[in-house]
Amino acid sequence: MSSSPRILMCAPTHYGIHYEINPWMKTERQADHALAQLQWRALRDQLIAAGAEIAEIAPVEGLPDLVFTANAALIFKRRAVISHFKHVQRQGEEAHFRRWLGADGFEVFETPNRFSFEGAGDALFCGDTLFAGYRQRSDALGHQQIGELLGVRVLPLELVDAYYYHLDTCFCPLAPGVAIYYPGAFDDYGRRVLAAHVPTLIEVEAGEAESFACNAAVVGRTVITNVGCADLHRQLRTAGFTPAETPLGEFVKAGGSAKCLTLRLDGEEAAGWRV
Ligand code: ARG
Repeated sequence: MSSSPRILMCAPTHYGIHYEINPWMKTERQADHALAQLQWRALRDQLIAAGAEIAEIAPVEGLPDLVFTANAALIFKRRAVISHFKHVQRQGEEAHFRRWLGADGFEVFETPNRFSFEGAGDALFCGDTLFAGYRQRSDALGHQQIGELLGVRVLPLELVDAYYYHLDTCFCPLAPGVAIYYPGAFDDYGRRVLAAHVPTLIEVEAGEAESFACNAAVVGRTVITNVGCADLHRQLRTAGFTPAETPLGEFVKAGGSAKCLTLRLDGEEAAGWRV
């Protein structure tokens, strides 16, 4: 097995705003197709420059959000818990991700009991604890059952703001005990849970959260975000990370950015460990 971080991506050949399933999406605010291809390729190049190896799943017509591979599954070691999307518009993606991950050699599990579960969009390891966002897209009880299946501790976090509908839009682990977060996406209890379990929390301001500052792709100490996250980048440099930016505005129109466009295949539990 290769030692560089392996990341799954899907080219935006069939990407577009074809329906509205989160408050960012407006079908009348369509993505610029050519620009989306350029932005996606630039992100891919930056990930490779940071040391990642990219695997690609074939794009499928009629599944515009397949580009957001973070939602394929939760990866833990060589196991993949395949997502069961809340919205019917994305449920067609499940079979493609299941087939690809199975063919790649993962032991594939279904989301238990048909709960809604949106993979690494809503379930992120920080150290050996799985932080799990619920209410908007994934079910809290489903997270607990997935934790039992994998034998890991789960800390559920309620997502209270519809704009931050996946955990990876407002929380990003960088290393064990270190994460980026946007406090406004959580309630008091969630903020207390985070403070108690993640000693170093890097706070994102509201304006930069809207630029998807928290939706960063992390490769070793490199942290790649959309443009417009200068304050976060300053904090990251102070904390010893190497921030990088690339414009991803065409994907923000669908409610996604760098992290959403990537799935760590060497395991979310590994994200940030190679520091
Ligand atoms: N349009 C997609 C949706 O609403 C965006 C998914 C973004 N992915 C993520 N991991 N946050 O489902």
